[in-house]
Amino acid sequence: MKKLLLTFFAGACLAACASPDPEIAIVPYPNRLEPGCGAFPVKGAPVVCDSRTDERTQRAVEEFAAQLAAASGGKNPVAVVGELPASGIRFVVDDTLPEEGYKLDITKKGVEVRASHFPGFFYAVQSLKQLLPAAIYGTEPAPGEQWKLPALSISDAPRFGYRGMHLDVARHFFSVEEVKRYLDVMAIHKLNRFHWHLTDDQGWRIEIRKYPALTTVGSIRNRTIIRKERDNYDNTPYGGYYTQDEIRDVVKYAADRAITVIPEIDLPGHMLAALTAYPELGCTGGPYEVWGRWGVAEDVLCPGQEKTFEFLENVLDEVLGLFPSELIHIGGDECPKVRWEKCPRCQARIRQLGLKDRDGYTAEHYLQGYVTDRIGKFLASRGRRIIGWDEILEGQAPSDAIVMSWRGSAGGIKAAQLGHDVIMTPNSHFYFDYYQSPDADAEPFGIGGCVTVDKVYSYDPMEGLTPEQQTHILGVQANLWTEYIATDDHLEYMLLPRLAALSEVQWCQPEVKDWTRFVNGFRMERIYTQMGYEFGKHIFGITGKYAVDPVAGTVVVSLTTQGDAPIHYTLDGSEPTAASSRYTGPVGIDRSCTFRAAVLREGMENPTYSREFDFSKSTGRPAVLNTAPNERYTFEGASLLVDGYHSRPVFTSGAWLGYLEQPLDVTIDMGGKQPYSSVVLETLVQKGDWIFPPSSVSVSLSDDGTNFTEAAAIAEPEAKAGDPDGIKRYEMQFPETSARYLKVVARTVGSIPAWHPGAGGRAYLFAGEVVVE
Ligand code: ACM
Ligand code: ZN
Repeated sequence: MKKLLLTFFAGACLAACASPDPEIAIVPYPNRLEPGCGAFPVKGAPVVCDSRTDERTQRAVEEFAAQLAAASGGKNPVAVVGELPASGIRFVVDDTLPEEGYKLDITKKGVEVRASHFPGFFYAVQSLKQLLPAAIYGTEPAPGEQWKLPALSISDAPRFGYRGMHLDVARHFFSVEEVKRYLDVMAIHKLNRFHWHLTDDQGWRIEIRKYPALTTVGSIRNRTIIRKERDNYDNTPYGGYYTQDEIRDVVKYAADRAITVIPEIDLPGHMLAALTAYPELGCTGGPYEVWGRWGVAEDVLCPGQEKTFEFLENVLDEVLGLFPSELIHIGGDECPKVRWEKCPRCQARIRQLGLKDRDGYTAEHYLQGYVTDRIGKFLASRGRRIIGWDEILEGQAPSDAIVMSWRGSAGGIKAAQLGHDVIMTPNSHFYFDYYQSPDADAEPFGIGGCVTVDKVYSYDPMEGLTPEQQTHILGVQANLWTEYIATDDHLEYMLLPRLAALSEVQWCQPEVKDWTRFVNGFRMERIYTQMGYEFGKHIFGITGKYAVDPVAGTVVVSLTTQGDAPIHYTLDGSEPTAASSRYTGPVGIDRSCTFRAAVLREGMENPTYSREFDFSKSTGRPAVLNTAPNERYTFEGASLLVDGYHSRPVFTSGAWLGYLEQPLDVTIDMGGKQPYSSVVLETLVQKGDWIFPPSSVSVSLSDDGTNFTEAAAIAEPEAKAGDPDGIKRYEMQFPETSARYLKVVARTVGSIPAWHPGAGGRAYLFAGEVVVE
């Protein structure tokens, strides 16, 4: 009878608790989590620390207990003891666990945290805090909240040992306070490396006692370019730097959050700020100017002279005194070789070293390799190891150099094949300065590109690598360059919530990573809001797709959103409300209209999606491309030209087909019944992005789809520098016809004209719509 009763209770318990509690929404998600039954009330619970825990752990536990007490309105006395009691919240040393791993057991009776070192305990505290009301992150008491922890069992450790986030403070400077906020939110997501990009062409941001002009001169630029407007500057001095005391403060603050700070002194390129302060370090001797614009400067350090190395070693010696990190980033990216090609000292060095052009690289590339190698050896002599951007592979990087792959994953794959350790930071997935949404017009002005949260999440750092090569992947990092990011709010907006997606790529084993679980259970916004962070709200919005249904002759709109929040829509452009049609599946559209949808969520502004469709006689008709667009700009293919949607002039919006290698050549099946007499091809011109008008456009007609006769054509003169950019429409008229097939051909201009900075490269042609009337 007793046994039966027990079985009964166990069964009842399972039935009540078998499905994961929706409240358990830890990010990054633990690698093993089993929900239990019931909850442990934490208000007033004693907190005890094993006396074998280290001082940092004890401080972190004390801080947690203080936050708990302040937020819950109770008291959570802390004790450090040799003999652990059976109840309360206990932090216990368990030497069997890895340094960053932890175990967490929560029952109705109490909480037990096990870890071997500070990072494991710290991460356990992060998980505990995420299980509590968000008020635990605030400063105000919230006694009315549910101060209890759900029963569960977690056994967790990260997938990768290197979990980084980068910050560029050279293009725009961020205060110590903001850097600490950056570290705070990294810590919440269990990141452990802060890559601090401290020097660049636009400003030197770290005090170096031996070279005071680096900051008195090199930290200040006289002007900054406005948006991307060539030759348009604000003429306002801009500067800022960190004193050595401030750096030490940040390094300690990070260490208390289990984060190692990796400084980057970018060399031998991106050095204009230093050259402005010490012009004798350059090949030409200057004068130089701390740059007020963005890009890659041709003036770089001169490695033909010994004093350049003396400078670098002196600077690095002070850097090493401030940063205990074993890894030191020495940049190495985007170093033009034009000055070295002309510099007698650099050429003498090349001869002295016997450097030659080989394997597709020039002697000057190998000269950069010499710099990397020499600095690598210098740092090795002081017990440190270098990281460099993937360009360091172009001139034979030292074999123990860690390669940071930023130009896609290819550099990282190549480096792993060569036996280097690698950190993956491909711009395709981890450049957080790229727009968060393809709707770039709706975003703060930025550098370009598009990295959505789901794109970040989708990355697999091991793809394309053999098991042996995979052992070289130390981890993953995202980079946040700040050319167009000047304020704290904008910085945080670019960081969040992409950081959350990054953290699961870094922390979660492949079988635990799950976009649907992540997006549907995402609740980090309550923490961001509580702590006052700006963040992107795209993942709470609507993802809309539309496609032509050539059988029905309609444009079909499909929508998705996070979780099961209701979506309502209208077709007359009015703002949807709960009384509007409820979206239950794809909506077919057969006439011009403004489609508008909203997801109705409590306590949040209603994210909306809208598209205006303007039907012409070609809209919804079957269309085929006879030539291939460039693979990067193929999107939905031919249907994009007949979907009735007139895109804004943003070439990455997904509503423009881009042609580079071939002309646009599309055939539309008009059905053979309706009369028409005009065809308009809409193209995009954005010369700064190498997108030019076509050289010619023509329309041809056919009844059999094989034999076409030209009906009209336009020849376009070559673009001039002052021609306006934007959407260009080519209208062709001809005697009314009802020919079944209509073919539009637009030729690219081929080469970019001589007056353009991209002269010699190939010009793109972008086409968005074929309108037939
Ligand atoms: C880089 O983005 N230049 C590393
Ligand atoms: Zn030189």
